[in-house]
Amino acid sequence: MTFYSEFLPNTRRASYSLASQVLFQVPVQLVAFHQLAFTTKEMKSSFLLLTALVGVVVATPTPRAACTSPVKLSGNPFQGRTLHANSRYAGEVNNAVAQITDSTLKAKAQKVASVGTFLWLDTIASISTFEKYLTETQCNEIFGVVIYDLPGRDCAAKASNGELAAGDVSTYQTKYIDPIVAIIKKHPEVAIAAIIEPDSLPNLVTNSGLATCQASASGYRQGVQYALKNLNLPNVAMYLDAGHGGWLGWDANLQPGAQELANAYKGAGSPASLRGFSTNVAGWNAWSKVPGEFENTSDGQYNKAQDENRYVNLFGAALASAGMPNHAIVDTGRNAVQGLRDAWGDWCNVDGAGFGVRPTTNTGNSLADAFVWVKPGGESDGTSDSSAQRYDSFCGLADAFKPSPEAGTWNEAFFEMLLKNAVPSF
Ligand code: GLC
Repeated sequence: MTFYSEFLPNTRRASYSLASQVLFQVPVQLVAFHQLAFTTKEMKSSFLLLTALVGVVVATPTPRAACTSPVKLSGNPFQGRTLHANSRYAGEVNNAVAQITDSTLKAKAQKVASVGTFLWLDTIASISTFEKYLTETQCNEIFGVVIYDLPGRDCAAKASNGELAAGDVSTYQTKYIDPIVAIIKKHPEVAIAAIIEPDSLPNLVTNSGLATCQASASGYRQGVQYALKNLNLPNVAMYLDAGHGGWLGWDANLQPGAQELANAYKGAGSPASLRGFSTNVAGWNAWSKVPGEFENTSDGQYNKAQDENRYVNLFGAALASAGMPNHAIVDTGRNAVQGLRDAWGDWCNVDGAGFGVRPTTNTGNSLADAFVWVKPGGESDGTSDSSAQRYDSFCGLADAFKPSPEAGTWNEAFFEMLLKNAVPSF
C-alpha cells in the first residue's frame, strides 16, 4: 500500500488512465474468486503468478498516452484545466487519514487528498522529486509550483529562513533555477502555473528598514528577474507574488508595490509567460467580506483593499499603470473562517482556521484567473517552540495554534481543525 500512497493517492482521482483504474479492481475480484473456486496447488500458483503480473501492471503508472503535444498557454491558464492534486500532498493527507478514528471525519479527510494544491520547491534538495510529481499531471490539468528559495529568504521573519545566504545569487541561479528550468523543458506537454517567490518583493517594499531585508534586497531583485527570464516558457504561466490586501493594499503601498513588481518584470525583459500576480499565499484574508475584517479599525481608512477581491482590483489597476500584466490567482486554502486574528499582520498558524473554497476559475472577477490552494493545509507556518533557531514570535502569539512544528512540517491537529472548520464543508 505504500505504493498507492505514493503514486495513487486517491484511486477515484482521474489522474491515471482508465485502464489502470480497471486493472486496480481486478485483483480484488480475483481474490474473491480464488477463495471460492481454486483448490489444487497448481491452480493456486498460476493464480498467484497472474496476480503478480497484474500487480506489476497496476504498479506501473500508465504513461500519459494522449498527452504528448506541447502546451502553449494563452489567456487564463486555469480555464478548462483542473489544478493537479500532486501525490506529495495527497500522501500527507493519506497518512493523516490513517490516524483518524472517527469514521465521519476520516471520510471527509480522504476527500482532501483529491484537492489540487501547489508543490513548494523550498530547497535545492526538493527539486529531486519535482519531475516525478510533474509527470503525474493529466492533459486536462495544470500543475502548480511555488518557486521559493531566494538567498536570504523570509528576511522579515524567522520561521521560513532559507538555506541560501543573503546575496548568494549564483547558487540560486545555477543550483536552483537552472535545474528546475531543465526539468520543465523536458516536459513541454505539461501546463504549469508558477508562483514566484512569495513575500520577497513585498518585503522589500515595507521592510526595507530591517538590516536583514537590506542585506537581501539586491539578491531578491536579481534572483526574481533571473527566475522570470528563465521560466519564460510556452507551457508556463507565472504569477509574481504580491503579498495580500493587508500588506501592499495600504494607500501608501499600492504604487510602490506595483512599481517594485513591474521593475522585476521589465528587468527580466517583459516575459510573455508572466500572467500577473498571486495574493494571499499561505494567508487568511477573505475573498469578499464587507465590511472587511479590519475595515473598522482606527487605521482602516488608509486601506481600501479590505478583502482580496478589492485588493486584486486595486493592485491590478496599479500594476496596469506601472506597465505589468495584472491577472491574479488567490490562495483560498485556509481562509474559511474570519475574525480569528488579533491583528491583520498575524500570519502564523492561525487558530480556528478552516479550509476555504476549492480551486476554481469561478471567481466572479475577470482579473482573478482562479482561486487556488497554494499553502498545503496541514503544513505548519512555523514552530511554536521558543527555543528553536527558526522560532518567530508571531508563532507564539495568542491567536497562533500551539504546539506547532517547524515550517512546512505536518501538523495533524491543525489539519483536522482545518477540516472541521471547512467552508464549504467536505
Ligand atoms: C513554508 C515553509 C516551506 C514550506 C511551505 C509550504 O513557508 O517555509 O518550507 O514548503 O511553507 O508548507
